[in-house]
Amino acid sequence: MMNNNTNIIITCAFAVSLLATSFSLPLTKGPDKSAFEDFCSPTDTIGDQVARLLQMMTLSEKALLLTGINGWDLHGVERLGIPSINVKDGGHGITIRSSGCATSFPTAIAQAATWDDALIAELGGAIAREAKSKGISIVLAPMVNIQRIPVNGRNYESFSEDPFLTGKMATGFINGLQAEQVGAVIKHLAANNQQYEQKHIKSRVEERVLHEIYLPAFKMAIAEADPVGVMTAYNGVNGYPSSESSYLIKDVLKKRWQYPGFVVSDWRSVHSENVMQAGLDLEMPGPGVFMTQELVLDAVKKGTLPISELDDKVSRYIRALFHLGLIWGDRTVVEDNAVTASTLMEAHRPLAQRVAESAIVLLKNDRNVLPLDTTAIKRLAVIGPNAAEMRLSGGGSASVTACAAVSPLAGLKQYLPPGIAIDFVEGTSLKGGMPAIPGQYLSSVVDGKRLAGLTGAYHDGHNYDKPAGCIRQDAVIDFSWGWGAPCDQVDKTNYAVRWQGKLTAPSSGGYKLGLSFDDAGARLYIDGALVIDDWGDPANEITEAKFRNRSLSVDYELKEGREYDIVIEFHKKERTNSIRFEWQTPEAEDGIAQAVAVAGGSDAVIVFAGISNFYEGGNNDREDIDLPGRQNELIQRVLAANKNTVIVLINGTPLAMPWIDKAPAVVEAFYPGQEGGVAIARVLFGAVNPSGKLPQTFPKQLADVAAMSFYPGSNGEVRYDEGLFVGYRQFDKDGIEPLFPFGFGLSYTTFEFSNLQVKRQGKNGVLVRVDLKNVGNRSGSEVAQFYVSPLEAKVDRPVKELKAFKKIALAPGETKTLEVLMDESAFNYYQVEKGDWVVEPGKFEISVGNSSKHLHVKEFIYVN
Ligand code: BGC
Repeated sequence: MMNNNTNIIITCAFAVSLLATSFSLPLTKGPDKSAFEDFCSPTDTIGDQVARLLQMMTLSEKALLLTGINGWDLHGVERLGIPSINVKDGGHGITIRSSGCATSFPTAIAQAATWDDALIAELGGAIAREAKSKGISIVLAPMVNIQRIPVNGRNYESFSEDPFLTGKMATGFINGLQAEQVGAVIKHLAANNQQYEQKHIKSRVEERVLHEIYLPAFKMAIAEADPVGVMTAYNGVNGYPSSESSYLIKDVLKKRWQYPGFVVSDWRSVHSENVMQAGLDLEMPGPGVFMTQELVLDAVKKGTLPISELDDKVSRYIRALFHLGLIWGDRTVVEDNAVTASTLMEAHRPLAQRVAESAIVLLKNDRNVLPLDTTAIKRLAVIGPNAAEMRLSGGGSASVTACAAVSPLAGLKQYLPPGIAIDFVEGTSLKGGMPAIPGQYLSSVVDGKRLAGLTGAYHDGHNYDKPAGCIRQDAVIDFSWGWGAPCDQVDKTNYAVRWQGKLTAPSSGGYKLGLSFDDAGARLYIDGALVIDDWGDPANEITEAKFRNRSLSVDYELKEGREYDIVIEFHKKERTNSIRFEWQTPEAEDGIAQAVAVAGGSDAVIVFAGISNFYEGGNNDREDIDLPGRQNELIQRVLAANKNTVIVLINGTPLAMPWIDKAPAVVEAFYPGQEGGVAIARVLFGAVNPSGKLPQTFPKQLADVAAMSFYPGSNGEVRYDEGLFVGYRQFDKDGIEPLFPFGFGLSYTTFEFSNLQVKRQGKNGVLVRVDLKNVGNRSGSEVAQFYVSPLEAKVDRPVKELKAFKKIALAPGETKTLEVLMDESAFNYYQVEKGDWVVEPGKFEISVGNSSKHLHVKEFIYVN
């Protein structure tokens, strides 16, 4: 058959027509690699090779490739050398679905805070090497959704509020990743900017706003880095589910931008067979519901999916595999190999530290409190709920299981000389953090006998339909079963537990009774009343919703000696599930008072405050931008006790700082990754000069953010009526003073901008030159930010927009001349009537500085 390669050209042509018109072509013995190689010219481009392979495929084989085998493996066609490949998430490290660990790098917002796309390319390369060591060929990252509102649970996983900065970071990440022959899937197309009702909500965004704010990062990354895939979003856009938006997929992506890669759905976000015609190429996870092999063949038969479109879908995917060197096993995927993986992970620790050091933003430094001086400190107080544990990220599918992580407290202990005494007091908890209720206060009566602890019944499934697999007495409810099963009679992937018994109070008074649980649903009944209820909808939940991390509590008045009926229900959703029944008794000593006492007796104090994956993540928007719990009170009282107090924040969404006027020094570390503890110590004590800049405006209060007035939307729709005015674009327009502006970050040295020159170059190009000098006495890096303001625009335009940036290292006294060539994309806007970008002739201001509010030099230029 096709391995008869005597009449090459004729055979090619014959094969096309034969295969294209036949529905069942069981090729008994298919062509081998030699047939493929001999078939046409060996000097073919990838496009030619894709076309050739396509000619060799049967319709059934083609139809098979349009969905996965399962959640993480894609189909191959063995006889044609098309391998089955594995995909995983990996925005700040590879997510592991079975056992194992990976390097947990700073998350995307921290990556963007470096303003160093070359460094982020290095990070992409490291993630790719770890992916390969685990047999992963495509990584589902980066996420380039714009930080539209400060409460979005996946803010930590996204780069910035600014499309240009986001696009540059994504480009660096993808180039680094793909240089190692691991594919990137850029996500989520489009306008995926909140978690509230994430699966059902439809974003209503004007066309111009889509093109100027929500699409440019995709466009830039596609043009400059060519990611192998694009992932659609859970949310809909302008009336259509994203995976069915032929406007986004076919018109914009594939036609206007000439995108040659494949388009994959977000996990379980396909709602109908319309996706076939709308341009979706791959439905995930497998085995698929709407683009199964059977349905695809049926659609071809009925003529609703032309063969040319099926071929287009398949060739996009095959092209990716050719680019990754995977067809015909040209590059063998390294299987999970503990030695390779652990060597790699060790090798990547310095990089993880470097990215963290480059990302840390110094927000305030009155009286040069920082850097702290090791020779002046004998006693250091370390306080706060984010000190003893390294918070690695918000929750959700991007969560990385780090092989090791250095907490801020451990980082300081490692870094500081032994002569400095470190006193740690948590002060107040972040995640509920109350003690587990001791067994002597819990009891139950079984077969007429009173036993200590609660009786636990363990069932298969997420409800209690089936008889319990095992029943046992649990003294304390404080479990973390992770991937394992709690007892061997239940399925470890899907089980529920019900504990019953009595709680006896040791004294009368006001208690807090609580449940802390991760990746789970839970309920608490006291005396028959449901007092805590976060069960979710296990039958319908999508991936993001399963990663539910909560600490919930109720205030309850208990009487000494009285028995209260307790029922706790729990069902596991994901791998890191845990459950704890906890309390705070009326006598509990106040942690804040302890912290204040320790702070008062120290030479310097560092408070580690912030949030964690319990407060933000997939399917988990924040309700406000306040520090949870009693952290503001803790900070205020510690500040009053010691004037040498430094506040370090660890978080992924902006936080309000009601104590800012009293705090001499504030550092924003975001989620700095597994080596964050060392990086923070080195910045605080001056081994590293901070150079991170905020990729997002920090508002003084949530009400200052215009987009919040449209959040979370109603009737299944969220309107983006703030239009182009997102982040600093809105603060500029409304004249609102932010707490800290976009692009802001201090250094231990001082930089001076001078000598700005702008010159027309070519058609609508402008050459910008500026001198940057380190006028202080420490080496340091500065980010020069170039903004463009249209001064004579007839259409509504932002006051200014970031159009270039450069991060430069300078020794004391050193000056460098920076040069940037801006093309017309620095001046144009999207004209809806034309469906294209246009430059409106007129006068533009070009300003350069080190934040969107600190623009030190300005010049004008006419563009026509
Ligand atoms: C997320 C995607 C992710 C996918 C696979 C979804 O819930 O929205 O970002 O890539 O799951 O984990």
